[in-house]
Amino acid sequence: MLDEAKPEVDPRNSLNALTAKEWLSESVSVWNQKGLGSNHAAAQIEKLHPAPYSYTDVARIIKMLSKPGDLVLDPFVGVGSTLKAAALEGRRGIGFELYPDFAKLAELRLQREVPTDALVDSPQAVLQGDSRTLAKRLDPGTVSLIVTSPPYWSILNKKADHKQKQTREAHGLVTNYGDDERDLGNIEDYDEFIQVLGQTLRDASVGLKHKGYLVLIVGDFRHKSKYYMFHADIARAMEEHGFTLQAMNVLYQRHKRVFPYGYPFAYVPNVHHQNIVIMRKL
Ligand SMILES: C[S@@+](CC[C@H](N)C(=O)[O-])C[C@H]1O[C@@H](n2cnc3c(N)ncnc32)[C@H](O)[C@@H]1O
Repeated sequence: MLDEAKPEVDPRNSLNALTAKEWLSESVSVWNQKGLGSNHAAAQIEKLHPAPYSYTDVARIIKMLSKPGDLVLDPFVGVGSTLKAAALEGRRGIGFELYPDFAKLAELRLQREVPTDALVDSPQAVLQGDSRTLAKRLDPGTVSLIVTSPPYWSILNKKADHKQKQTREAHGLVTNYGDDERDLGNIEDYDEFIQVLGQTLRDASVGLKHKGYLVLIVGDFRHKSKYYMFHADIARAMEEHGFTLQAMNVLYQRHKRVFPYGYPFAYVPNVHHQNIVIMRKL
């Protein structure tokens, strides 16, 4: 039997290592979120963080927007989902995290959930501290891709009646990051939060190459009956800092439970998607 020829990567492809067919499927603007499920052995460290994202979704972004060997940065790395994905996809990684406990869990997660060979070939560094200070250590223009999920304002401190918060409390799990005043999740005023987040991402982007990509995975939210279009507000702020919007993909969270918010008086959505805000440094 004849071997089928393996599709080749176009030699002009300077962005990634995908074939034309792989590239095409990733160009569709709606993605289904894929997680391991909370009972999976490799989800036990991730579960200790109140707002992790799925490393499999980040892996797709990394494969689409960088090449093997490239350097990926996450300035809000939490328990290291981005670094796990980077190592498994053959990219080097740097992550910043304010809280020592999360930074230690990120290290532990890499040791436990990534084969040693992958960590040798694609080293990952977790730096503990404030992103704004740590960004000064980056060599300009060395990072190919920034991908991150920042704090969603101080929303984790607010949602007293939120079902997910109640479930975590019942299981003795933390429901916010902590009380450090440098934590962007502790900024009370929303406009100030957007401003500070924009400045923090601008500082981190000093490390980013010219025309490099900045990807933010963020969800909109409601607070006291007001709908906050977080994805649009931070995209607008980054345009002020020399970025151009390339795409606003939807990450559909179809596994989430539906609650009858507002019924039968007012339309209140179950927000079952996040936005993948893809921007490019000018
Ligand atoms: C949405 S979480 C990121 C979770 C991460 N994507 C994961 O999967 O584990 C945001 C993280 O930003 C961290 N953070 C908040 N303010 C920070 C700051 N000034 N510098 C560094 N990290 C900060 C929080 O502690 C939190 O872990």
